[in-house]
Amino acid sequence: MHIFVAGGAGYIGSCCCEYLLDQGHQVSVFDALLTGYRQAVDPRAEFIEGNLSDYAAIEAAIRKTRPDGLIHFAAFIEVGESMLDPLKYFRNNVANALNLCQAAVENQVPKLVFSSTAAVYGMPESIPVSETEPTVPINPYGEAKLMFERILAWQHRLKGLPYCALRYFNAAGASRSYGEAHRPESHLIPLVMEAAEGKRECISIFGEDYNTPDGTCIRDYIHVLDLAQAHLLALQSDFCGSLNLGSGLGHSVKEVVEMVRQVSGRDFAVRSQPRRPGDPARLIADSSAAKRILGWKPAYESLEQIVQSAWDWRCKNPKGYSH
Ligand code: UFG
Repeated sequence: MHIFVAGGAGYIGSCCCEYLLDQGHQVSVFDALLTGYRQAVDPRAEFIEGNLSDYAAIEAAIRKTRPDGLIHFAAFIEVGESMLDPLKYFRNNVANALNLCQAAVENQVPKLVFSSTAAVYGMPESIPVSETEPTVPINPYGEAKLMFERILAWQHRLKGLPYCALRYFNAAGASRSYGEAHRPESHLIPLVMEAAEGKRECISIFGEDYNTPDGTCIRDYIHVLDLAQAHLLALQSDFCGSLNLGSGLGHSVKEVVEMVRQVSGRDFAVRSQPRRPGDPARLIADSSAAKRILGWKPAYESLEQIVQSAWDWRCKNPKGYSH
């Protein structure tokens, strides 16, 4: 297939492109490089620099590429920032994304796969979380992702655009050449690794008084290449709708910290901090629908494999992409 990847220079996008190219597909990346990196675009892919706010640019890129499928990763991802500047999130992650949607319809793109998030569920009542859980986002980031899912559902019903929204839990790990290097970094695993590398004084644990076995928050870490596999399957499938993607396993913040110590062989300071507002105690995915419907088979089952791949990438790229 020829696959058009909006946001292919970001963390998950770049890893996914490498996977698609390794599987023998042709890839065109469209990215504004606001948060992504030119070095994160696989040299085997075509690169088109452009912003989703520019309808003419995205429409021309899709028309020229004539893709067999489109994956949309291009979005802002900072939950905390979305609470401070909600319109930034609604403008980019919803309004600008309408241009992509319209261009996909105009050019009869056969399938659109959308990068969604567990944040659409807010503070879920039932664990593991299945797709039938009520969607009640508690921040503009999750709200904007849910709004775009609903826009896609209407575009499907009224304009016939086939789509699949994939709700990731905590994406982690690295592909062979690409990894996680956000500016600024706010995600647990890369932050713990910065502490292990001596790039930060210590790692803060946000809350040790949760109702969990060790008192710290539990998350479902899913390898970025398992996410990539699901995107390809979703492009190839007739299924339209939303699916959860997670490992189904929960790991506490303290378990992640210990795993980084073990994998890196380095020790570092840990500081206990108050809870971070808006953090649910436990988030674990029920991904049985993705397995059943798409035939998705995650290959990286343990936290150790996930942390090891992230650590290996950092060892090979000590300066991230800024070299
Ligand atoms: N944490 C710390 N210390 C840190 C950073 C994080 O203790 O320095 C904790 C958080 O409080 C949380 C856990 O580590 O309990 C994981 O935090 P992340 O920020 O890595 O990830 P989140 O679970 O908050 O967010 C992830 C995605 C979001 C998505 C959300 C869905 O990064 O994009 O899941 O609920 F919205």
